[in-house]
Amino acid sequence: MMKNTDSRWGWVAKSFHWIMFFLIVGAFVAIDQRELYERGTAERDWWMTLHRSLGLSVFFLVWLRLGWRLTQTTPQNFGGYGMAKMASIGHALLYLLMILVPLSALLMSQLGGRPVSWFGLFEIPVWLETNRELAGQIKDIHADILAPALFVLILLHIAGGIWHHVVDRDDVLKRMLPFWRGKDL
Ligand code: HEM
Ligand code: HEM
Repeated sequence: MMKNTDSRWGWVAKSFHWIMFFLIVGAFVAIDQRELYERGTAERDWWMTLHRSLGLSVFFLVWLRLGWRLTQTTPQNFGGYGMAKMASIGHALLYLLMILVPLSALLMSQLGGRPVSWFGLFEIPVWLETNRELAGQIKDIHADILAPALFVLILLHIAGGIWHHVVDRDDVLKRMLPFWRGKDL
Protein backbone atom coordinates (compact mmCIF):
# COMPACT_ATOMS: atom_id res chain seq x y z
CA MET A 1 0.00 0.00 0.00
CA MET A 2 1.09 3.49 -0.80
CA LYS A 3 -0.17 5.14 2.35
CA ASN A 4 0.72 4.58 5.97
CA THR A 5 -1.74 2.85 8.28
CA ASP A 6 -1.99 2.57 12.07
CA SER A 7 0.28 -0.46 11.98
CA ARG A 8 2.61 0.01 9.02
CA TRP A 9 4.51 2.41 6.81
CA GLY A 10 3.33 2.58 3.22
CA TRP A 11 5.78 2.17 0.36
CA VAL A 12 6.17 5.90 -0.22
CA ALA A 13 7.44 6.47 3.34
CA LYS A 14 9.68 3.39 3.11
CA SER A 15 11.09 4.48 -0.23
CA PHE A 16 11.89 7.94 1.11
CA HIS A 17 13.51 6.39 4.17
CA TRP A 18 15.81 3.98 2.33
CA ILE A 19 16.61 6.16 -0.69
CA MET A 20 17.66 8.93 1.68
CA PHE A 21 19.59 6.45 3.75
CA PHE A 22 21.74 5.57 0.71
CA LEU A 23 22.12 9.22 -0.32
CA ILE A 24 23.29 10.25 3.15
CA VAL A 25 25.63 7.28 3.61
CA GLY A 26 26.93 8.01 0.11
CA ALA A 27 27.62 11.65 1.05
CA PHE A 28 29.63 10.52 4.07
CA VAL A 29 31.54 7.90 2.08
CA ALA A 30 32.34 10.37 -0.73
CA ILE A 31 33.68 13.06 1.61
CA ASP A 32 35.77 10.39 3.32
CA GLN A 33 37.13 8.98 0.04
CA ARG A 34 38.27 12.41 -1.13
CA GLU A 35 40.83 12.43 1.68
CA LEU A 36 42.75 9.70 -0.16
CA TYR A 37 43.69 12.10 -2.96
CA GLU A 38 45.82 15.20 -3.08
CA ARG A 39 44.28 18.62 -3.48
CA GLY A 40 43.84 19.58 -7.14
CA THR A 41 43.67 16.01 -8.48
CA ALA A 42 40.82 14.93 -10.73
CA GLU A 43 39.98 12.05 -8.36
CA ARG A 44 39.51 14.39 -5.43
CA ASP A 45 37.26 16.65 -7.51
CA TRP A 46 35.25 13.64 -8.62
CA TRP A 47 34.53 12.54 -5.03
CA MET A 48 33.79 16.14 -4.07
CA THR A 49 31.28 16.50 -6.92
CA LEU A 50 29.69 13.23 -5.84
CA HIS A 51 29.52 14.52 -2.27
CA ARG A 52 27.83 17.74 -3.33
CA SER A 53 25.43 16.01 -5.70
CA LEU A 54 24.32 13.42 -3.14
CA GLY A 55 23.97 16.11 -0.48
CA LEU A 56 21.96 18.27 -2.83
CA SER A 57 19.67 15.32 -3.58
CA VAL A 58 19.01 15.02 0.16
CA PHE A 59 18.13 18.70 0.25
CA PHE A 60 15.64 18.34 -2.62
CA LEU A 61 14.01 15.17 -1.31
CA VAL A 62 13.68 16.12 2.35
CA TRP A 63 10.92 18.63 1.56
CA LEU A 64 8.85 16.07 -0.32
CA ARG A 65 9.47 13.55 2.43
CA LEU A 66 8.48 16.01 5.13
CA GLY A 67 5.36 16.99 3.19
CA TRP A 68 4.35 13.35 2.87
CA ARG A 69 5.14 12.64 6.50
CA LEU A 70 3.10 15.58 7.81
CA THR A 71 0.02 14.73 5.76
CA GLN A 72 -0.07 11.02 6.65
CA THR A 73 -1.01 9.02 9.69
CA THR A 74 1.94 7.28 11.30
CA PRO A 75 1.98 3.76 12.74
CA GLN A 76 1.34 3.43 16.46
CA ASN A 77 4.27 3.62 18.84
CA PHE A 78 5.70 0.78 20.88
CA GLY A 79 8.03 0.45 23.82
CA GLY A 80 8.45 1.61 27.39
CA TYR A 81 11.26 3.63 28.99
CA GLY A 82 10.14 6.77 27.17
CA MET A 83 11.25 5.11 23.93
CA ALA A 84 8.44 6.66 21.90
CA LYS A 85 9.24 10.14 23.21
CA MET A 86 12.95 9.70 22.48
CA ALA A 87 12.17 8.33 19.05
CA SER A 88 9.96 11.24 18.05
CA ILE A 89 12.48 13.80 19.30
CA GLY A 90 15.16 11.87 17.41
CA HIS A 91 13.11 11.78 14.21
CA ALA A 92 12.41 15.52 14.44
CA LEU A 93 16.13 16.21 14.89
CA LEU A 94 16.96 13.92 11.97
CA TYR A 95 14.61 15.94 9.78
CA LEU A 96 16.10 19.18 11.05
CA LEU A 97 19.61 18.01 10.23
CA MET A 98 18.61 16.57 6.85
CA ILE A 99 17.72 20.21 6.10
CA LEU A 100 20.47 22.08 7.94
CA VAL A 101 23.43 19.93 6.84
CA PRO A 102 22.98 20.51 3.08
CA LEU A 103 21.59 24.03 3.64
CA SER A 104 24.74 25.08 5.51
CA ALA A 105 26.84 23.65 2.68
CA LEU A 106 24.81 25.50 0.08
CA LEU A 107 25.23 28.71 2.03
CA MET A 108 28.98 28.22 2.28
CA SER A 109 29.16 27.65 -1.48
CA GLN A 110 27.07 30.75 -2.14
CA LEU A 111 29.29 32.91 0.07
CA GLY A 112 32.38 31.29 -1.39
CA GLY A 113 31.21 32.32 -4.86
CA ARG A 114 31.01 28.71 -6.06
CA PRO A 115 28.05 27.33 -8.01
CA VAL A 116 27.03 23.80 -7.00
CA SER A 117 26.64 21.21 -9.70
CA TRP A 118 24.18 18.32 -9.46
CA PHE A 119 25.94 15.39 -11.16
CA GLY A 120 27.06 17.79 -13.89
CA LEU A 121 23.47 17.98 -15.15
CA PHE A 122 22.57 21.38 -13.83
CA GLU A 123 24.02 23.99 -11.55
CA ILE A 124 22.77 26.09 -8.67
CA PRO A 125 24.07 29.53 -9.58
CA VAL A 126 25.54 31.97 -7.08
CA TRP A 127 22.99 34.51 -5.89
CA LEU A 128 24.67 35.90 -2.77
CA GLU A 129 27.59 38.27 -2.56
CA THR A 130 30.92 36.60 -1.90
CA ASN A 131 32.13 36.72 1.70
CA ARG A 132 34.98 34.28 2.13
CA GLU A 133 35.40 34.82 5.84
CA LEU A 134 31.79 33.96 6.58
CA ALA A 135 31.97 31.09 4.08
CA GLY A 136 34.88 29.67 6.05
CA GLN A 137 32.97 29.87 9.31
CA ILE A 138 29.94 28.18 7.81
CA LYS A 139 32.20 25.49 6.37
CA ASP A 140 33.35 24.72 9.90
CA ILE A 141 29.75 24.56 11.06
CA HIS A 142 28.88 22.19 8.21
CA ALA A 143 31.92 19.95 8.54
CA ASP A 144 32.62 20.01 12.28
CA ILE A 145 29.24 20.47 13.93
CA LEU A 146 26.16 19.73 11.83
CA ALA A 147 27.40 16.75 9.80
CA PRO A 148 28.93 15.02 12.87
CA ALA A 149 25.70 15.68 14.81
CA LEU A 150 23.76 13.97 12.00
CA PHE A 151 26.19 11.07 12.11
CA VAL A 152 25.79 10.58 15.86
CA LEU A 153 22.02 10.86 15.62
CA ILE A 154 21.94 8.21 12.90
CA LEU A 155 23.95 5.85 15.11
CA LEU A 156 21.54 6.43 18.03
CA HIS A 157 18.62 5.93 15.65
CA ILE A 158 20.02 2.59 14.46
CA ALA A 159 20.68 1.58 18.07
CA GLY A 160 17.03 2.37 18.84
CA GLY A 161 15.89 0.18 15.96
CA ILE A 162 18.03 -2.70 17.14
CA TRP A 163 16.81 -2.20 20.70
CA HIS A 164 13.21 -2.57 19.53
CA HIS A 165 14.09 -5.74 17.69
CA VAL A 166 16.35 -7.46 20.22
CA VAL A 167 15.19 -6.20 23.62
CA ASP A 168 11.55 -5.24 23.15
CA ARG A 169 11.01 -7.83 20.41
CA ASP A 170 8.35 -5.71 18.72
CA ASP A 171 7.75 -5.02 15.02
CA VAL A 172 9.19 -1.51 14.88
CA LEU A 173 12.38 -2.45 13.05
CA LYS A 174 10.69 -4.96 10.77
CA ARG A 175 7.96 -2.58 9.72
CA MET A 176 10.46 -0.15 8.19
CA LEU A 177 12.00 -2.92 6.07
CA PRO A 178 11.07 -2.89 2.36
CA PHE A 179 9.28 -6.20 2.01
CA TRP A 180 7.69 -6.71 5.40
CA ARG A 181 3.97 -7.08 4.84
CA GLY A 182 2.64 -6.83 8.39
CA LYS A 183 0.10 -8.89 10.21
CA ASP A 184 -2.98 -6.96 9.11
CA LEU A 185 -2.89 -8.29 5.58
C1 HEM B 1 23.32 15.13 3.79
C2 HEM B 1 24.16 15.91 3.19
C3 HEM B 1 25.60 16.10 3.58
C4 HEM B 1 26.38 15.44 4.50
C5 HEM B 1 26.01 14.26 5.38
C6 HEM B 1 27.67 16.07 4.49
C7 HEM B 1 28.75 15.70 5.27
C8 HEM B 1 29.97 16.32 5.30
C9 HEM B 1 31.06 16.03 6.20
C10 HEM B 1 31.04 14.95 7.28
C11 HEM B 1 32.06 16.88 5.92
C12 HEM B 1 33.39 17.00 6.68
C13 HEM B 1 34.51 16.25 6.07
C14 HEM B 1 35.81 16.44 6.79
O1 HEM B 1 35.87 17.14 7.81
O2 HEM B 1 36.78 15.89 6.33
C15 HEM B 1 31.66 17.69 4.80
C16 HEM B 1 32.45 18.63 4.16
C17 HEM B 1 32.08 19.30 3.03
N1 HEM B 1 30.84 19.31 2.45
FE1 HEM B 1 29.26 18.22 3.00
N2 HEM B 1 27.67 17.08 3.55
C18 HEM B 1 26.42 17.12 2.97
C19 HEM B 1 26.00 17.99 1.98
C20 HEM B 1 26.81 18.83 1.27
C21 HEM B 1 26.39 19.65 0.15
C22 HEM B 1 24.98 19.75 -0.40
C23 HEM B 1 27.51 20.30 -0.28
C24 HEM B 1 27.66 21.29 -1.41
C25 HEM B 1 26.87 22.28 -1.57
C26 HEM B 1 28.60 19.92 0.58
C27 HEM B 1 29.89 20.40 0.47
C28 HEM B 1 30.91 20.12 1.33
C29 HEM B 1 32.23 20.65 1.20
C30 HEM B 1 32.72 21.59 0.11
C31 HEM B 1 32.97 20.13 2.26
C32 HEM B 1 34.46 20.29 2.48
C33 HEM B 1 34.83 21.32 3.41
C34 HEM B 1 36.34 21.31 3.43
O3 HEM B 1 36.92 21.96 2.55
O4 HEM B 1 36.90 20.65 4.29
N3 HEM B 1 28.14 19.03 1.52
N4 HEM B 1 30.36 17.35 4.44
C1 HEM C 1 20.62 8.11 6.98
C2 HEM C 1 20.17 7.38 7.94
C3 HEM C 1 18.76 7.44 8.48
C4 HEM C 1 17.93 8.51 8.63
C5 HEM C 1 18.21 9.98 8.31
C6 HEM C 1 16.67 8.00 9.16
C7 HEM C 1 15.56 8.78 9.45
C8 HEM C 1 14.35 8.30 9.92
C9 HEM C 1 13.19 9.09 10.20
C10 HEM C 1 13.09 10.60 10.00
C11 HEM C 1 12.21 8.25 10.61
C12 HEM C 1 10.79 8.64 11.01
C13 HEM C 1 9.82 8.12 10.02
C14 HEM C 1 9.79 8.94 8.77
O1 HEM C 1 9.44 10.13 8.84
O2 HEM C 1 10.13 8.41 7.68
C15 HEM C 1 12.77 6.92 10.62
C16 HEM C 1 12.10 5.79 10.99
C17 HEM C 1 12.70 4.56 11.16
N1 HEM C 1 14.01 4.23 10.88
FE1 HEM C 1 15.39 5.43 10.10
N2 HEM C 1 16.79 6.65 9.33
C18 HEM C 1 18.05 6.27 8.92
C19 HEM C 1 18.58 5.00 8.91
C20 HEM C 1 17.98 3.90 9.48
C21 HEM C 1 18.58 2.59 9.59
C22 HEM C 1 19.98 2.18 9.09
C23 HEM C 1 17.68 1.80 10.22
C24 HEM C 1 17.86 0.36 10.59
C25 HEM C 1 18.15 0.00 11.80
C26 HEM C 1 16.50 2.60 10.48
C27 HEM C 1 15.36 2.18 11.08
C28 HEM C 1 14.20 2.90 11.21
C29 HEM C 1 12.96 2.36 11.72
C30 HEM C 1 12.74 0.93 12.19
C31 HEM C 1 12.01 3.39 11.68
C32 HEM C 1 10.54 3.31 12.06
C33 HEM C 1 10.26 3.73 13.46
C34 HEM C 1 8.79 3.47 13.75
O3 HEM C 1 8.17 2.66 13.06
O4 HEM C 1 8.25 4.07 14.71
N3 HEM C 1 16.72 3.88 10.02
N4 HEM C 1 14.08 6.99 10.20
